[in-house]
Amino acid sequence: MTTYSFPVKRIGIVGGGQLGRMMVAAAERLGCTCVVLDPTPNSPAGQIAGKQIIGNLHDAEKLREIAEDCDVLTYEIEDIDTTTLLALQNEGHEIHPSPQVLALIQDKLIQKRAYAEHGITTSEFVEVTEHSEQAFADFGYPLVQKARRGGYDGRGVSIMKSANDFSKQLPIPSLLERFVPAKKEIAVMVARGKDGSTSTYPPVEMCFSNENILDLLLAPADIPKKIANKAEALAIQVVEALNGVGIFGVEMFWTEDDELLVNEVAPRTHNSGHQTIEANITDQFEQHLRAVIGLPLGSSKQVSAAAMINLLGEPGSKGKQIITGLDESLALPSVCVHLYGKAVTSPYRKMGHVTVLDDNIEKAREKAMKVRALLKISGEDPA
Ligand SMILES: Nc1ncnc2c1ncn2[C@@H]1O[C@H](COP(=O)(O)OP(=O)(O)OP(=O)(O)O)[C@@H](O)[C@H]1O
Ligand SMILES: [Mg+2]
Repeated sequence: MTTYSFPVKRIGIVGGGQLGRMMVAAAERLGCTCVVLDPTPNSPAGQIAGKQIIGNLHDAEKLREIAEDCDVLTYEIEDIDTTTLLALQNEGHEIHPSPQVLALIQDKLIQKRAYAEHGITTSEFVEVTEHSEQAFADFGYPLVQKARRGGYDGRGVSIMKSANDFSKQLPIPSLLERFVPAKKEIAVMVARGKDGSTSTYPPVEMCFSNENILDLLLAPADIPKKIANKAEALAIQVVEALNGVGIFGVEMFWTEDDELLVNEVAPRTHNSGHQTIEANITDQFEQHLRAVIGLPLGSSKQVSAAAMINLLGEPGSKGKQIITGLDESLALPSVCVHLYGKAVTSPYRKMGHVTVLDDNIEKAREKAMKVRALLKISGEDPA
């Protein structure tokens, strides 16, 4: 039996966005305190953590400062200087998931190679060594070109159906992937503790908008039980292959021939786990903290069907927020609104999300669509 004092642990969170904000809320419940590193003063996570170090996530001195101010260092974003994290780890600072895992995931080519090496099913891919029409044609269309580093929310991804699309090619270090005709895109959140214990959440279904930003999430995914079991097993295979500690979001394609292919993995809490706050016994943020602190993992059981929508800044405006439809939305039963506390909005910026619970997924989806039509965040200035 371990004894604890208060705080149970002091957690350092690199990145001060909404994922960090929700992690701070979970940390408080577990008797932990937090310190956040983010360049923007009064960041969403910094506002509620009580302490924020203002600094760049590539600033070695600031990373050292936060590491020295906490018992365990973790992160809510992937774009962090891993050389410094590795040095800090070597000096004895505890960092989860490890900087080695983060460095591997930061490069989509290296990430895909790791899956191939471990027998984890993923779409066929090659490194782009030559940005020529011939090289792309040799790989074959339809294909997807992806930036090796720095892409997110669909930025750094170019889908090319045929040679006519070659003009959409990205002139940057990248890889080519086989385009996967998917029945559905699903995600599995999986946590792995320091003792190697694992816990998966039921797969969720992700529906994307034209901007490639997660548009609607349905939990649980409407997929055959056999595929759901296979998806959870695949997620465990991934986290074990990476030797990861913490929570991981594993994005997958369920293909037309009933295969599951890993698309990409996030070594952190994930947009497709937000609904766990209301719909599951232990939410993804608490589960992550339990894993990185060395506490037993909690039950990931889902207790209600849920649909989740992101609240994106309306196109056409920016600046101080104008929120409309909040009271009409909250008048509906089991509508849970989360606003991230961002000072300003801009087109398609993630400003919040809404989780809707109901008796079944169809009802939840319908209610989420109602909220989508009601609740809008625009800005005071033209974009
Ligand atoms: N090989 C593929 N075949 C078909 N569609 C794909 C493929 N790769 C990516 N996509 C589509 O593009 C979207 C974005 O790709 P990916 O998840 O790799 O990029 P990202 O920008 O890192 O993602 P995120 O939106 O999760 O931050 C996927 O969710 C999927 O809809
Ligand atoms: Mg993705």
